[in-house]
Amino acid sequence: MKIAIIGLGFVGLSLTSVLASKGFNVVGIDVDKEKCRNISNGVLPFFEPDLEKILKKGLKNELQIESDISVVQDCDLIFVTVGTPQNKTGAIDLSIIKKAMNSLGKSIRKSKKQHIILVKSTVVPGTMKDVILPILENNSKKKAGKDFGLISNPEFLQESTAIRDTEFPHAVVLGGYKTKFMKNVEKFFTKLHPKTPIIITNHETAEMIKYANNSFLATKISFINQLSNICQKIPGANVDDIARTIGLDPRIGKLFLNAGPGYGGSCLPKDMKALINFAKITGTKPTLLNAVEEINTKQLEQIINITKQRLGAISGKKISILGTAFKPNTDDIRDSIAIELIKRLLKKNAIITVHDPRAINNTRKIFGEKIHYADSITDALSKSHCVIIMTQWKQYEKLSSTKFNGMKRKIVIDCRRILVGKKLDVDYFAIGVGKKN
Ligand code: UGA
Repeated sequence: MKIAIIGLGFVGLSLTSVLASKGFNVVGIDVDKEKCRNISNGVLPFFEPDLEKILKKGLKNELQIESDISVVQDCDLIFVTVGTPQNKTGAIDLSIIKKAMNSLGKSIRKSKKQHIILVKSTVVPGTMKDVILPILENNSKKKAGKDFGLISNPEFLQESTAIRDTEFPHAVVLGGYKTKFMKNVEKFFTKLHPKTPIIITNHETAEMIKYANNSFLATKISFINQLSNICQKIPGANVDDIARTIGLDPRIGKLFLNAGPGYGGSCLPKDMKALINFAKITGTKPTLLNAVEEINTKQLEQIINITKQRLGAISGKKISILGTAFKPNTDDIRDSIAIELIKRLLKKNAIITVHDPRAINNTRKIFGEKIHYADSITDALSKSHCVIIMTQWKQYEKLSSTKFNGMKRKIVIDCRRILVGKKLDVDYFAIGVGKKN
């Protein structure tokens, strides 16, 4: 059996590498030729823990990386993992996937194989039937369900744990008609993930499951962020003890209850917007989803207001930002709240220095010479009026009083509460912790 993966982003490259490392005959496909060249040489386009090791293992096996999509004609399973970004109105932008499906359809036109196409890309309900299926049928001159299989297969991996999540997913969702293709794919996944529940449903439900998952995670985060804002007003109250306790209730669960600057990254903000947009199209008023989004947006205002309160005027002040990645163990800054914060502080004429163990190169691509980049935490804090901790990198948790000695004014705003309980000789403020007078 030969497997193709179209689109080598986080999802596609992780899947490509994991399957190849397990000995499957895999071809990873991406339109970006330079990216393909680098991946073929074991060079990653982004940082993801363990990915390099797994990719290199795959390359030692039969893994092939190609920019020409026509290689799919030799493949039995074809995974589609291209991006589905948002357009200016917040709705889903299908242009990339439409283009890929055009080429894919053409590529399988003359093939004698009974290909099975699995779409992992996140798409709003109805997209498989109304957009993807007709493009594939028109371009291949073949019939879905008869000549080729078409299955929705949403992905739940998280960046920073992509390899573990690819190897051990908590669920496999297969959406589509109950054809021979579905049976074969079910067999494939049962063998690949013997302990993982497999949910077989229709296309629309599978498409909706992905949005349900991400929007519920976003809801948990906004819930705890709202509670954290209340806690901040109660001297001595700590949102983490509350989260830890309610998390022990199995009906609630302990994960995704860390209050902070709001959810960022390339998925939750985009998927929330797409779902809100889609709900409106269906004639449903997305009251809860709107509130989740509003709380998320206002979290940034909170940080700016706290900075203003502690610092007085922002203009002309040196502010250090610890962490620009949207979460630790990644170099990804897409929709990172830290990036938005820097933009807002620059507008207020702050002088910004940033530190991040992984994401400096990407940060530099956005701000260029407009801000300063520090190689060490000590350099980042030197002569600064205020430091804002935005990402919970492990090395920031180790900060002690002496690290802050080089600051002009020792104002510390901890958006992740990683220094709570430490004896620090600084003016310390943690989001979600009521300051005692
Ligand atoms: C998210 C989902 O968690 C994955 O299940 C999904 O597959 C993926 O989107 C996707 O759709 O591709 P990811 O974007 O990697 O994964 O990021 P998360 O780990 O969900 O974090 C998102 C944001 O929420 C980060 O800014 C993080 O700091 C924030 N967060 C997370 C909190 O503020 N508090 C928490 O308790 C958890």
